[in-house]
Amino acid sequence: MATGAQKPRNGLLSTSMSTHLEPLAELADAVTEVPLVDGTSTRFVNFDYAASAPPLASVHRIVTTAMAHYASIHRGQSYLSRVSTAAYERARETVAELTGAGADDVVIFTRNTTDALTLLASAVPGRVVHFDIEHHANLLPWRGAEWTVVPASETLAASLGALELELKRSPAALVSVTGASNVTGECTPLGALAALAHSHGARLAVDGAQLAPHRPIDLAATGIDYLACSGHKLYAPYGGGALIGRVDWLDAAGPHQPGGGAVLNVTLDGVEWKPSPARHEGGTPNLVGAVSLGAAFQALEQIGFDAIREHESALYAELLSGLAALGIEPLRIWTDHHDRVGVASFNVPGYRADLVAAYLSAEHGIGVRGGKFCAHPLLRRFGLEDGAVRASIGLGTGTDDVSSLLQALDSLISDGPQWEYVASDGYLSPTPDPRPSADEAFAKHTTGF
Ligand SMILES: Cc1ncc(COP(=O)(O)O)c(C=O)c1O
Repeated sequence: MATGAQKPRNGLLSTSMSTHLEPLAELADAVTEVPLVDGTSTRFVNFDYAASAPPLASVHRIVTTAMAHYASIHRGQSYLSRVSTAAYERARETVAELTGAGADDVVIFTRNTTDALTLLASAVPGRVVHFDIEHHANLLPWRGAEWTVVPASETLAASLGALELELKRSPAALVSVTGASNVTGECTPLGALAALAHSHGARLAVDGAQLAPHRPIDLAATGIDYLACSGHKLYAPYGGGALIGRVDWLDAAGPHQPGGGAVLNVTLDGVEWKPSPARHEGGTPNLVGAVSLGAAFQALEQIGFDAIREHESALYAELLSGLAALGIEPLRIWTDHHDRVGVASFNVPGYRADLVAAYLSAEHGIGVRGGKFCAHPLLRRFGLEDGAVRASIGLGTGTDDVSSLLQALDSLISDGPQWEYVASDGYLSPTPDPRPSADEAFAKHTTGF
């Protein structure tokens, strides 16, 4: 049985790699070898940053330091309690500063983007309008109130026109849009969207889950009213996220999570809630989530978004030209818009997406996402009920990774998979599979807790 990366058949891959790029930042992902079905092991090649990114080494170090001082936040009188509270509130200031939040804005720590948009949904005083290209996190929370979906057109210009018509037709409180599509990587023009929303009396919310790891986001400069983001997409996978934005709606809304810390006074039949952010952060706060999120925004700022953009664009261009050489065309929503982050979703002719994902992992040690990416309406628009394969680039990606992925796809197209795959537990798995089970591997790598 053939295994591992093989030489490209068509010779195009080597010519498309003009410069050799190393990863831009050090990640704290200690496990770098993964087993293959042939009994050997190989370097893990991660193309799944858009789903969840491992921690940056610098973020991990700051988390470790914070943990050394850990004590109860906002509650204790001990010295360490005060240190932890200061760390938590400093993280809030950092996130505010690095997202351009103004005096009328507040940073509320949440679990993730889904949680942040769900919180915002409970506070919107009117109709919400959004496109049909969104992740479920920016579709489902709005369904509790009045909402309207504007189908995106084939061009961005026509999509903005359709949005404008909808806002003219009937007033809306909020336009909510993704900053970058988790399926195609296409970025939305946030300044133009803010101006459009504002000119019709609406506010703009941005689902920043995919944009924030790749581009600077400045609420004040761009006119964004609300930004939602997730730590685990920002190289800070410690359970934190945030909603950043205008405080008035949030202070007028009921608490997102009623409980300790969110109240000024409680009687047996009444309660006086604190203003935001405490109003929406009931229960003991997630110190690691907050500190890691602040550290991640700071780390990205220090690496520099110009450097990040240059690095990722070069790798993305290598990936796209290599895919084109293999006859693979990534999905795109708009024909007139070319601003994208490093996300490419595609299908390999003749193979189901879940088979391609299973093959890349089992035979080549490459991690991609196969499926519908929590964006069912968009995949349905593309006519892809069986989903697609998504390869996404991050700070740990280098030219070697792009070459490995392209060579593995080339081998698949030329020779097909070299193993049998069967459905089990909702996934396709190779059979036989001599690799240690996930439970065994977990026990080995974690000393079995
Ligand atoms: C564009 C986009 N929005 C929202 C989300 C939801 O993020 P989370 O699962 O962290 O809430 C994701 C996650 O993949 C995403 O890609």
